[in-house]
Amino acid sequence: MDGARIIDRLRPDAEGERQDLVEGLFASHARISPKYFYDEMGCALYGAICRLDEYYPTRTEIALFQANRDEIAKAIGPGRQFVDLGAGDCGKAQGWIPFLAPRRYVAVDIAAHEIGKSLARIAPDFPGLPLVGLATDFTHALDLEGVLDGSPALFFYPGSSIGNFTPKEAVRFLSCIKGQCATRPGSTLLVGVDGKKDKALLDAAYDDALGVTAAFNLNVLRHLNARHGFDFDVAAFRHVGFYDEGEGRIEMHLEARRDTAVHVDGRERVFHAGERIHTESSYKYHAAEFEAILGEAGFATIRRWDAPAGGYFVFHAA
Ligand code: AVJ
Repeated sequence: MDGARIIDRLRPDAEGERQDLVEGLFASHARISPKYFYDEMGCALYGAICRLDEYYPTRTEIALFQANRDEIAKAIGPGRQFVDLGAGDCGKAQGWIPFLAPRRYVAVDIAAHEIGKSLARIAPDFPGLPLVGLATDFTHALDLEGVLDGSPALFFYPGSSIGNFTPKEAVRFLSCIKGQCATRPGSTLLVGVDGKKDKALLDAAYDDALGVTAAFNLNVLRHLNARHGFDFDVAAFRHVGFYDEGEGRIEMHLEARRDTAVHVDGRERVFHAGERIHTESSYKYHAAEFEAILGEAGFATIRRWDAPAGGYFVFHAA
């Protein structure tokens, strides 16, 4: 692949990662971080989720982008360093690059296997555009040392992935981005946010009829078995996904169908029938709630676009 420079800043620290996982699994309310969804199988399943009738966010955001391309591009300005946080297949960036004319495109993702493939696929469309792939866990730390220069950047965080953070964590993460913007005057953030909406719609979006979301959720156990030699009995768990109106968030869990156990480093973690492992939260926001979060993170100038069908927002913040 010519042109694309790939930088691997994934924590090589397999031991530390394993310790984090063990801490989560042995907690009284067991948990696994949603970042472990995205091995090759998980990325393929997420791609399938995005094509489900029930999963509205992807197509809603695409419709919003298509309806407002020129206006959003004008707000951002040309010649930016385009930093795509969670680039995945680079599909969204592909739509934006012709409108943004960036000086450099940086695809950031935890799924190292995706980045090289994705950049190789889009490279022929954009001859002359410097492409950089950065494999890193940006929820942990966003290290852009030697990747960006001092010219203005666009931090692009679409897809409502911001919902995986709690509101407090979102403020922390966005403050980090604001810090990155401050060191490069003229830099801005474009972020996609899913709105609070009818519980029946949300429940269906995260528990679809085909069972793709169930497979996506269960796959995290298969991934951890392969990655860390755990021995989860995947068939002993079932997918639970629902909207909690009080908390304003989707919760996904893996619930033990019967008593089952996982063994790690000679220790045993028993899951009794009905016990759950929390795997993901996906917060939904009223526009004003998210505006307040951006404000707390230090963004002072905020502009918003609403999806044609409603219930989904894109914010441009400086
Ligand atoms: C990739 C985090 C935006 O929360 O909607 C989809 C992940 N989980 N179905 C989301 C997901 C279950 C998705 N994000």
